[in-house]
Parts: sequence; structure tokens; C-alpha cells
Amino acid sequence: MAQLLRLFQTLLILLLRDYISAEDGETRASCRTAPADLVFILDGSYSVGPENFEIIKSWLVNITRNFDIGPKFIQVGVVQYSDYPVLEIPLGTHESTENLIKEMESIHYLGGNTKTGRAIQFAYDHLFAKSSRFLTKIAVVLTDGKSQDEVKDVAAEARKNKITLFAIGVGSEIEEDELKAIANKPSSTYVFYVEDYIAISRIKEVIKQKLCEESVCPTRIPVAARDEKGFDILVGLGVKKRVKKRIQIPTTNAKAYEVTSRVDLSELTRNVFPEGLPPSYVFVSTQRFKVKKTWDLWRVLSLDKRPQIAVTINGEEKTLSFTTTSLINGTQVITFAAPRVKTLFDEGWHQIRLLVTEDFVTLYIDDQEIETKPLHPVLGIYISGLTQIGKYSGKEETVQFDIQKLRIYCDPEQNNRETVCEIPGFNGEGWILLQSEWGCAVRFLDHTNGSFLKGSWFEGLI
Ligand SMILES: *[C@@H]1O[C@H](CO)[C@@H](O)[C@H](O)[C@H]1NC(C)=O
Ligand SMILES: *[C@@H]1O[C@H](CO)[C@@H](O)[C@H](O)[C@H]1NC(C)=O
Ligand SMILES: *[C@@H]1O[C@H](CO)[C@@H](O)[C@H](O)[C@H]1NC(C)=O
Repeated sequence: MAQLLRLFQTLLILLLRDYISAEDGETRASCRTAPADLVFILDGSYSVGPENFEIIKSWLVNITRNFDIGPKFIQVGVVQYSDYPVLEIPLGTHESTENLIKEMESIHYLGGNTKTGRAIQFAYDHLFAKSSRFLTKIAVVLTDGKSQDEVKDVAAEARKNKITLFAIGVGSEIEEDELKAIANKPSSTYVFYVEDYIAISRIKEVIKQKLCEESVCPTRIPVAARDEKGFDILVGLGVKKRVKKRIQIPTTNAKAYEVTSRVDLSELTRNVFPEGLPPSYVFVSTQRFKVKKTWDLWRVLSLDKRPQIAVTINGEEKTLSFTTTSLINGTQVITFAAPRVKTLFDEGWHQIRLLVTEDFVTLYIDDQEIETKPLHPVLGIYISGLTQIGKYSGKEETVQFDIQKLRIYCDPEQNNRETVCEIPGFNGEGWILLQSEWGCAVRFLDHTNGSFLKGSWFEGLI
């Protein structure tokens, strides 16, 4: 009898294991799980002091809590340095976040001089070079003083070996040029400065987002003079090959795709967003349509075809909805019903932009801020399903519409740069478009003397 019971138990365990691994087939991908080797190189010189060093440790622990630590996910190593570097935590020695955090908390402050160059070299030789994983490699240098040894060449060599370097400077003794020479370019992304150690908690979120962008959004989209991290969804879905017909957008150089109901713009999410999406991003699309029904301009479906993320155009109500995941019950749907949303339905070209952050989502139409709505905390997306564009909601049928652009930018700052320069119809009589450093401006040209009229900014145009 006891034997039979054991047999049943074994069977039950086997069944359960199968059930669990089937669930595992639908893994959620996000920054928590994106694989990367991450090394913190911490200044432990005299100028820091034991109290501030405790703050640094607490900051390190708080950043680490955002990641799932493990051989398949992120691995974190720590080097502390003063005159010489000390290997506090090697890469890949921890299988869980809790153990790693315990070890971080027990790091002892060194005291001494500031030999940053030596520490970067050490991190390369003893941590990165020993990791057998081929993936994103990131080093974060946190210092409060000028290095007392050669650092520029060492950093350049590390970057050449595909290590992305972030530099964080604390306090007034910092030399800005040195931080810039250590870190990757552009400095606006890879160099941070805070006035004192108390203030480093303020850059925790931005560092978390930047670290995530490195592992989740490795592709770069050329935008004006810079390369932006993100996803060109039209490229990801092979639209160029699948949609034959192009339309020239009048008065611009831009071409758009004429999507008909015969094409299927779908792709495995795993191929488009292999590591999911970062916590904050900007969705941008330029399109025109005539359909009066409800359709998803963009959607990411789970394996059982439920939308996890969607930008939905509600033709009946003339509103726009944004669907995303939710920690509370799986999904949340945010509907924008402001009167200005109706302009989307005038059959002309429009730009839709959604700034998505951890706490809110803001809708912009043709560069005009429409509405901001709060978001509940989100979950990672399942990557085993499909990513699609231009589908009727709840159906597989493709919508007939024209699309020029559909992108996700991982840096939320891109929201301030992405503009409507390429939208036709805005450079008609007297109006001209100016590509300025911060974006696209529309000014009214005074034909009598060729100067711009003051205050003739976009506001008055649409
Ligand atoms: C880390 O998080 C804890 C708990 O939220 C907070 O009390 C502490 O101030 C944080 N430390 C830093 C340096 O941000
Ligand atoms: C989740 O909760 C929201 C309200 O907070 C509700 O509108 C929505 O229908 C719920 N979704 C599911 C799948 O239960
Ligand atoms: C051009 O003409 C406008 C009025 O049409 C005037 O306000 C402006 O000062 C003139 N600019 C120059 C450079 O003369």
C-alpha cells in the first residue's frame, strides 16, 4: 500500500513538473531577465569615507534588486579599488539575488588613493575576460575624484573589447573630461554626475533604465545625426518585403507603405523583442486610414492570443486605447477620449506618439500633448506569441491603411526629439519646416523680406 502511494506521489510530481515546464514555455521577458554581465567598479579611496561607502552599498543593493540573478539572466560582479583593486564579487558566483545582496552588504571599505585605470584593467582581466557568456557586457565606474593613474587608454581598450562603460561622478573633485574619456559616447547617455553621495539615490531609476536599454534594446536606429536604441517594427516585421506598394508622401521625401487586407504583418515576438521591452519607452507611428471599425495599429499577443500590449484605434467612439500588462490582474487598458483624438479620424496623415513610463502614459498627436494617464506597475511580456500591426481587434484580418513609420525608442528622452517633420501637409503656403538641434520647427515665412515671423510656432498651425 505504501509502495502504491509512493508511486502515485512520483506520478503526481512528474505530472506537475510537465505542467510547470509548459507554463515556462511562456516566459515573461523584461529587464529583470535580460542576460548581461554587469560589473560595478567602486571607488573606495579616502575621500569617500566609511559613511558614504555604506550609501554606495545600499545604492548597489537597490539597483541589484531590479534583476533576476542567475546563469541564464544577469550576473553582477563588484570590484572595489583604491591604490589597488580588490575582487569583492566575481561574476557568476550567485544563483539568487538574495545571496548576492548579502555579499554586497558585507563588503568592507578600503581607503587609500584613487587608481581608477588599474581598476578598469583589473575588471577586464579578472571578470569580463573570464566570463564565457557571449552577451552584453557593462561596467559602471563610480568615483568621487580624479584618477591618480592613466585611465583613458585603459578605458578605450575595454570599450574596444565590447564593454560598455558608464561613468558616475560624485562631488566637486570630479574631472568631467576624465569621466567623458572613460565612458561610451554619447556622454549624455553614459556619464552621470551628482553633487554628493546622498544624491546618488536620485539617479537610481535612470541608471536602472540605462542598464536595461543596453541589454534589452541593442539595435540602433539612425535618427538625424544620432543612433537611437530601439526597435523599428516595420523592419522587424519585414514590411519592405511583404508590402509591395509604396506611396510617395506629397511634398516630402518620405515614402509610405500601402497595406492591403491581403498581407499578414505578423512575426514571432521572440524575433522582434527577444528580451521584451524596457520599463520606459516611446512609441511613434505615422499613418493614415479610412477604416471606421476598431483595430490594433500595433499589438503583442500572448501564445493564447490575448493582447499584452496594443495601440488600438476605436473607430466607433473615435478614441485611442493603450493596452499593457499589469501586476494586478494581467492587463490594463487606458483609453484616451479627449476631443483632439478625433483629428486622427480625418483620413489624413498623423503622427501618434505615446510616452510610456513606469507610472504614466502620455499621448501626443502631431506633436501636441493630448493627455496623461496613470499606469499600474507592469509585468514583462510573454515572447512566445506574435507581434502584429494593422489587425482588426480580436481578429486575424488585416486592416487597409497606409503606414510610414512605426518604432519604439528605448530612451524616453527621445520623446522630446521625435517630431512631425516628415508629416506632409505642414509645409504648405508660407510654412516651412526647420530641422533644429532639438527637433523640428514650423515657422511662418514672411515673403516680403524673407524673415521668420516671431512666435509663429506650431501651435497656430493645426
Ligand atoms: C535603498 O532602498 C531603501 C529602501 O527602499 C532606502 O531606504 C534607501 O535609502 C535606498 N538607498 C539608496 C542609496 O538609494
Ligand atoms: C483588470 O482590472 C481592470 C480594472 O482595474 C478591469 O477594467 C479589467 O477588466 C480587468 N481585467 C481582467 C482581465 O480581469
Ligand atoms: C520683416 O517684416 C516683418 C513684418 O512683415 C517685420 O516685423 C520684420 O521686422 C522685418 N524683418 C526685417 C529683418 O526687416
